[in-house]
Amino acid sequence: MAMQQDRPLTDAEAMAVLEWYRAAGVDVAVGETPVDRFAASIPKPRPQVASAPALPEAALKSDPSETRALAAAASSLDDLRSAMAAYDGCGLKARATQLCFADGNPAADIMLVGEAPGSEEDLQGKPFVGRAGQLLDRMLRAIGLDRTRVFIVNTVPWRPPGNREPSPDEMALCRPFLERQIELVSPRLMVALGNVPSKALFGTTTGIMRMRGQWKTLTVGGHTVPTLAMLHPAYLLRQPGSKALAWRDLLALRQKIEADA
Ligand code: URA
Repeated sequence: MAMQQDRPLTDAEAMAVLEWYRAAGVDVAVGETPVDRFAASIPKPRPQVASAPALPEAALKSDPSETRALAAAASSLDDLRSAMAAYDGCGLKARATQLCFADGNPAADIMLVGEAPGSEEDLQGKPFVGRAGQLLDRMLRAIGLDRTRVFIVNTVPWRPPGNREPSPDEMALCRPFLERQIELVSPRLMVALGNVPSKALFGTTTGIMRMRGQWKTLTVGGHTVPTLAMLHPAYLLRQPGSKALAWRDLLALRQKIEADA
């Protein structure tokens, strides 16, 4: 069939195009006007960190010495948020709408570490505000918690395009930010939500199904904290049959909170 051009799309055709974009991972409109990403991606010279050794170009891609220096210089969460918002060295930032720093109570005893912002989080600039976040709220409520009792962050603070997993490079680059968040909050208990944060925090290749439900003592930055790996709410939305396992993990968390009270 010959292709017809220069006519408006029918509603059905427009929907088909949108569905095709969505399937390809383009599921969020980031602005009304086109952006020349080639012009925007001309690299800015990076500020030199005095103690950073000279590294070959390939290694610089995930050299966290700059994020480590920025994180170390932040003496409060507000400082850290500003430093992270001003940092341009992580490729995720270029495609994200905004920084997704944290949500909840910075004085809370419990810190939750998720994977990465999704599309709703990217739009609102807060972790866990989409469907998975709503389930997380219900899970917390089931054991008497809410967002005033926890502080929530992610392994990376910018949304990976198309909701892919953050790469090891991206996580290594953002790790000093996460560690400084943990140091500054100094939680008494921590929860790794899902496979990606569990592997990252525990430094293991063992999957979440074997890690979940066990308390392990972690030293992150300068802070030592008992940490529990738990199934991710997004996983539970896809696999509701696993909610019984998640309930056991929630009970383990509640028991620990009561034991420490
Ligand atoms: N999933 C995550 O891991 N983090 C979020 O902030 C939202 C969904």
